[in-house]
Amino acid sequence: MKALDNREKRIMAILRDSTIPLGVSSLSEETGWTDQAHVVGAAMGLTDRGLASLSEEESVLVKLGVEGHKAARDGLLEMRMLEWLQSRDPQNRSMAAISEDFDKTEAGAGVGILRSMGVRIVGGRLEAPDMQGALSEAERRTAFIMALSDSPIPANELDERLTSHFAKRRGLIELERSVSRSWSATEKGLSLGAEELIEIDQINEITPDLLQGDAWRTKEFKPFDIHAPAPIPLGGRPHPLQSLIDRIRAVFLEMGFSEISGNFVQSAGWNMDALFIPQDHPARTMQDTFYLEDPAKMEIESSRLEQWEGTHERGMGTTSSGWGGNFDKDESRRGLLRTHTTVNTVRHIAENPSSPSRVFGVGRVFRQETIDRTHLPEFHQIEGIIHEESASLPMLITTLRTFYSKMGYSDVRVRPAYFPYTEPSIEVEILWRGKWLELGGAGIFRPEVTQPLGTDWPVCAWGMGLERLAMLILGLDDIRELYQPDLMVLSKMPIL
Ligand code: PHE
Repeated sequence: MKALDNREKRIMAILRDSTIPLGVSSLSEETGWTDQAHVVGAAMGLTDRGLASLSEEESVLVKLGVEGHKAARDGLLEMRMLEWLQSRDPQNRSMAAISEDFDKTEAGAGVGILRSMGVRIVGGRLEAPDMQGALSEAERRTAFIMALSDSPIPANELDERLTSHFAKRRGLIELERSVSRSWSATEKGLSLGAEELIEIDQINEITPDLLQGDAWRTKEFKPFDIHAPAPIPLGGRPHPLQSLIDRIRAVFLEMGFSEISGNFVQSAGWNMDALFIPQDHPARTMQDTFYLEDPAKMEIESSRLEQWEGTHERGMGTTSSGWGGNFDKDESRRGLLRTHTTVNTVRHIAENPSSPSRVFGVGRVFRQETIDRTHLPEFHQIEGIIHEESASLPMLITTLRTFYSKMGYSDVRVRPAYFPYTEPSIEVEILWRGKWLELGGAGIFRPEVTQPLGTDWPVCAWGMGLERLAMLILGLDDIRELYQPDLMVLSKMPIL
């Protein structure tokens, strides 16, 4: 057995001399140590070695809550009501009068309490067959509250019936539970030889002064247990999702892209019509999209609305024949929370139709999803486009492959897909632990999208899920873990 350290020796000596178990405060007093952690540490050390035994006692302290303080000041509700009853003739003790004389929140609750004390309501009037009995109960309750108004009282010194009565009423009392620990010497502790408790002059800390002289050569050093469990200090760090976003940004910037962003609030026109998503497309319904009450309508230049109307109805300005049907400009003006970040890239082209560009953005999008292991109503997309004369499908695929391989996933494959705004359309998958996982959509914008925006160049476009990628990188199987503010869990996620 490792020898006792000085603190343990000191506490052991005190426990041996005491006929009763000693708690933290008596031990602090006896030792004169101001840091209770030293007392507890030493006493626990002795307990672990079987030299002291620990007893824990739970105690409950009762104190007044907010309503309790009010009752101590203004009188307990049932007392005030009984006094009110007494002050009027029986025929004037009506429910209507009580609701007039007491405040709304009090009247209902108070009558409820009176009824539990034997007061009855007969023909809209309150009757107290045992007024004396009710009054004396109200007095006992008042005395209970008044006793607590000076200072909290341990539960075992109070009337248990009244404590449990008030515990059921909101805000009157609060119960504070605590555990008090005390230690006493065990047989084994009592049988230690006196020499084992002699404190030795140990060096606890190696300081420069000490090393300058020679005195240390003959001294004893406090042993350190390098295997003792110690708390892991929690340093600050960026949220893992933020680190991932930063890494993605670094990768695209390195690949020569510029960053763009946009507002969460958009019109249906820019979010959908500009992308040639038909107005009766199922994704446009309330079940999928968060439409806004404010702003319910958004301003859109009339030339844009005319253009979308023409393109949707008959392919105006393009070689397409459009979707047919009737285009509704009011539908375009509706305000919504963007459902994808493709709205940002489309607006970027609209603003820069004749300059080539390679832009990306990581942004939040909103959809009416039921929250589960893989879905959230708010999530992020990694969006981007290449808008230039020589843009092509192979260029798109190579770009995405390069991106994912820089993120650490070099097995990328694409499969044919469908989006109303791209042709061809592809789905991008990466190989993860032997399975192909779908991470997003991409394609070449259709002429119905690009020509009305004023460009004849092809546009490579993609929109990938960020959270999906984060789950792979961080090894999570529940998307919600990314958004739970559990510092312990977050601190253990890998640093990206
Ligand atoms: N906007 C699509 C989505 O939200 C992704 C996408 C972007 C597809 C660009 C094709 C082109 O899933």
